[in-house]
Amino acid sequence: MKGRFVTFEGCEGCGKSTQIKLLSAWLSQRGIPHIVTREPGGSDIAEQIRTIILNGKNTAMCDECEALLYAAARAQHLREIVAPALDAGKLVLCDRYVDSSLAYQGYARGLGMEFVEGINSFAMKDFRPDLTLFLDLSPDAAFERKHGADRGDRMEQLGLAFHRKVYQGYLKLAEAYPDRIAKVDCSGPREQTRQNITDILKERKIID
Ligand code: TYD
Repeated sequence: MKGRFVTFEGCEGCGKSTQIKLLSAWLSQRGIPHIVTREPGGSDIAEQIRTIILNGKNTAMCDECEALLYAAARAQHLREIVAPALDAGKLVLCDRYVDSSLAYQGYARGLGMEFVEGINSFAMKDFRPDLTLFLDLSPDAAFERKHGADRGDRMEQLGLAFHRKVYQGYLKLAEAYPDRIAKVDCSGPREQTRQNITDILKERKIID
């Protein structure tokens, strides 16, 4: 049986990684076979591409190169990790996927959704997520939550104005694809958000 493909999206500091860990533990307790992976990265070659993309010293990288590298990492990760896990009937939880490219490169960088959709259609073939969980927390709220703490990689160096645009991009995507993208309220305690996520997975028939 073919597995299900669930992606997680949101602005920096929205708590995606924590939620994926909590969900993975919850699924393991119930014996639901799944893998957790991430983009950019998730496989050896894609992680090497990630290092280039996020290197804070690569300030000369042009937007087109950035968009193509994300798509290149995606192509490799999909074939090496995601597709085999789906073929094995597993639930795949992926931290970021094509909507990150649409929100960050297409919308916030200004390359255009169509251009970014085009290069990613080539990279992804027909591998679309069954469900995308958008952790809906504005960058302003995330910044307050983190008390301004930053890792300072190349994307994080871009500042609040850029990340506000990313957030707008996500809101537009959620509006355009309501059947695929579910907004998750993550304003409460993290256990509440975990519950919100499992409720959505059940409603959308990803799990029983
Ligand atoms: P990461 O450390 O995974 O960030 P986070 O913990 O917020 O998910 O770094 C990934 C960065 O790359 C993040 O700033 C979002 C950005 N990104 C894009 O701009 N386009 C993409 O297609 C992907 C997958 C990520």
